[in-house]
Amino acid sequence: MEKKTGFTGQLGFVFAAAGSAVGVGNLWRFPYLAAKNGGGVFLLIYLVLVLTVGFVLLTTDLAIGRKTGKSAIYAYESMRKKWKFLGIITFIVPVLIMTYYAVIGGWIVNYIILFLTGKVDIASQSDTFSNFISSPNSVWFSLFFMLLTSFIVYGGVEKGIERVSKFIMPVLLFMVVGIAIYSLTLKATAPNGEIRTGIDGLMVYLKPDFTGMTVGRFLQISLDAMSQLFFSLSVSMGIMITYGSYVRKDVDLSKSVSMIEIMDTGVAFLAGVMIIPPVFVFLGLEGMSAGPGLMFISLPKVFAQMGLGGRIIGFVFFVLAAFAALTSCISVLESIVANYMEILNAQRKRATVVLSIVYLIATGVIALGYSTFYVEVNLPNGTTGQLLDIMDYISNSFMMPFISLLSSILIGWIMTPQWVIDEMERGGKKFSRKRLYAVIIKYFCPVIMFILFLQSTGVFYLLKG
Ligand code: PFF
Repeated sequence: MEKKTGFTGQLGFVFAAAGSAVGVGNLWRFPYLAAKNGGGVFLLIYLVLVLTVGFVLLTTDLAIGRKTGKSAIYAYESMRKKWKFLGIITFIVPVLIMTYYAVIGGWIVNYIILFLTGKVDIASQSDTFSNFISSPNSVWFSLFFMLLTSFIVYGGVEKGIERVSKFIMPVLLFMVVGIAIYSLTLKATAPNGEIRTGIDGLMVYLKPDFTGMTVGRFLQISLDAMSQLFFSLSVSMGIMITYGSYVRKDVDLSKSVSMIEIMDTGVAFLAGVMIIPPVFVFLGLEGMSAGPGLMFISLPKVFAQMGLGGRIIGFVFFVLAAFAALTSCISVLESIVANYMEILNAQRKRATVVLSIVYLIATGVIALGYSTFYVEVNLPNGTTGQLLDIMDYISNSFMMPFISLLSSILIGWIMTPQWVIDEMERGGKKFSRKRLYAVIIKYFCPVIMFILFLQSTGVFYLLKG
């Protein structure tokens, strides 16, 4: 079934889907995981996973979307009535992610302003970030980001999402490459007198480090890489099903999948080249951390040590981070809007307005989770977190492996892989990795997803004591 709205062609679709995939995960999680997990060892494992499991999950979601022409809930229902429940669970993931993604966008906006107005010394102080998020005023930045997202989704698939992605993605790629090259030229003297260069930092990133490598550690690195891959490709949350449903039947899906994989992995890899050398040069590897700590505490410190160049690089870095977050945030809202339109037979504009009001409130609540609504909860992985971490844990760590597990059983064993292969080969297109696809979806995905799911329940953590 062909929809009335959709992407105009392959390029618009690939940029929008890559826009969803390239997000803060590429910038603040991938480089950290690589630095922590033996550099090149992690890179190699990740690459193998992208080309196998990642390729399978992305192909599956996009093919389901295009073949059924529907978003998650009705897509699964139209495959097998009894499997509608999987559509509903899948739909819940973006519903949860949307409550906090704009909050992070708001934090980025604050740092753009700090660098733009030359307040580099403030941006680089250790407690600036925690003071900012624990001040109720920070909520305005997040609400602004949410409004911006709503505005673009309100414009529709072609005039809103496609148009914005076609502008943002090339600019983002250009900025990432530019900063990465600049990072390699850096040089500084460490407190112990040792001279550190950007190229040394690059080596830390690229060289496989096998010291202390055991089978257990190797498996742990693989699990880390796997869960990063999920989040990074935006799969198993219905987003790529929705985007798939907007793709024209004559577009070569297989080629598109490769292009999205290359862009997402390319930006993640370059983010490492951009971030690890400067952190190594100015702070030493102890300065490497994951998540908000890396982006909002360590990096501003690094930028501050670069002088005037740092002010410019810092500004460009946070603009590119905002771009990455915006195209991802758009995709999350879009998939919710699309499901809502199908459930209630509603018009886009009305659906967007209603959902925007709901999510402005939700964003406000989560943003205030560090001040007015402060809570501290123990999560099954042994960390403690606030409202944002709880939402993130439920949606990403817990629900996504579960959804992939069920979805690979449905496609691998009930619909059979041929169902997806037919869609990939529609119109005589070539699907060269089809044998690989069939083997992985049937045998590998269910096992890997089951292990990841067990891990998310905290079982391994409990076993370790
Ligand atoms: N794939 C994005 C990233 O790597 O940051 C994040 C993301 C986007 C996650 C959209 C979830 C989502 F629904």
